[in-house]
Amino acid sequence: MSESGDPSLDDVLSVLEAWHLVVVSNRQPYRHTFDEDDEIAVDRPAGGLTAGLDPVVQKTDGTWVAWGDGDADRETTDDNDAVRVPPEDPAYTLKRVWLSESDVADYYYGFSNRVLWPLCHSLVDRVTFEDRHWERYREVNQKFADSVVETVASDTDDSVDDTPSDHDTPTDYDTVVWFQDYHFGLAPQFVRESIGDEALLSQFWHIPWPEREVFRDCPHGAELLRGLLANDLLGFHVPAYCANFLDCVSTMLPEAAVDWEAWTVSLADTDHRSRVRAFPMGVDTEGIAEYAAAPDEGFWEQFRADYGILDDQQVAVGIDRLDYTKGIPERLAAIERLLEAHPNWLGEFTYVQKATPSRTEIPEYRELGRQVDRAVERINDRFGTDDWQPIIEIDDYLSEEALYGLCRHSDLAIVSSLADGMNLVAMEYVSAQIDRNGVLLLSERAGADELLGDAAVSIDPTDTETFASRLDLALSMPDAERRRRMTALRSTVETTNIQSWMADVFASTLTLDHPPTETDVRTR
Ligand code: G6P
Repeated sequence: MSESGDPSLDDVLSVLEAWHLVVVSNRQPYRHTFDEDDEIAVDRPAGGLTAGLDPVVQKTDGTWVAWGDGDADRETTDDNDAVRVPPEDPAYTLKRVWLSESDVADYYYGFSNRVLWPLCHSLVDRVTFEDRHWERYREVNQKFADSVVETVASDTDDSVDDTPSDHDTPTDYDTVVWFQDYHFGLAPQFVRESIGDEALLSQFWHIPWPEREVFRDCPHGAELLRGLLANDLLGFHVPAYCANFLDCVSTMLPEAAVDWEAWTVSLADTDHRSRVRAFPMGVDTEGIAEYAAAPDEGFWEQFRADYGILDDQQVAVGIDRLDYTKGIPERLAAIERLLEAHPNWLGEFTYVQKATPSRTEIPEYRELGRQVDRAVERINDRFGTDDWQPIIEIDDYLSEEALYGLCRHSDLAIVSSLADGMNLVAMEYVSAQIDRNGVLLLSERAGADELLGDAAVSIDPTDTETFASRLDLALSMPDAERRRRMTALRSTVETTNIQSWMADVFASTLTLDHPPTETDVRTR
């Protein structure tokens, strides 16, 4: 048990070892590619969920089912599409699902990222729906489900007899399947239809769940709700998303009965019950702090010199996937307003933007990249001088040491999402702040606001005037106040980290569950 009395990850792992854990995600933890010498190279989990989950799947010798998108992936898999990983010390099976170009176009770029992604972020103007997107989303969900079913079936074939395993649970399940995210709205139902109650099914939805006024416009919304309700447990980051989901179920599915006390859903004519719970996700706080502390003393001076950041200036940082939900143009508008309304910051402050291109097959994403470049150029032309540029865009790859070193030394971080399931960058910044002298500016529209909002400086990204004055406030904040706030933020991210998050989700999945907390119920 941890100090709080909740099960620790080790406690949960000792139970989980008796199970076959099957993780299902769109992105794979190891990707094989051909390098420039035509040799096979392997990309490894870079951070976040994949890096956190990888050791758990290793420890339990589980199976990870994911899209094989590397050009050398087929070379490395066996007849069952499986490869043992990590390559140097194989500990679990990665089972790849092959997607054709049109699968990728319609399932991934189409229904997942042009319908569900904008809709769940309540950015309805961005939704583009075509029937073939939905058809392919269904088919690809069926492919993933088939791969899971094969895995579960091979488990059953392998067993020497039918003796139930000796794990200490109220059921005879042997397999627990954990689906990740919005790419798999239907797969749980397809798995359930094939294997009935042979496995426990759990899913975590990493993006927001919108209010019913938004979700009711989702093409095939009722089918998605039914697909998700095949799970025994459905997790979201914060209670508000759970409440939105239950609200959609109660208004859109006549056959569903929502128990608002227990946060469960029962479907007519079945004895199946799904639990809906909030699990605020965290990051690997300790690992990040180690990276932040790793670079030698000259690191920051060299970094500044490399990117042209003047000495004695305050530095703000923004680290994002180049996605329209992240509010990057809104952030740049606030910086422009700051420099206009508070000219004392001219030459005294630099904003560093590290934005990683993402989903560039989608026109809106490409347009966003151009829009950001144009805004940066305009602001730099307007305010920059011969030796100072207010905004620096970093396109280079940064190692973990450099990235978290940058977070450690930046005086503030700006997270200005228009909507965001949680926003782990906010937590990464706080984890890297080992000297406790930075300020976090955090959008009140990010899920992270529920955890960090009190000690961060809150902003509404669309209110440029107030956003600019909060930037001024943050840059002017006295050291003692910075330290007080950062200490509080760090204490939160240390408690709500990736390990405790996984422990909570697994404990709940394996029905070592607890009813919704008072906070959950109050938020409704
Ligand atoms: C979000 C989603 C993840 C996704 C990630 C990167 O965080 O919740 O499921 O993997 O974005 O996006 P991509 O489309 O490149 O996988």
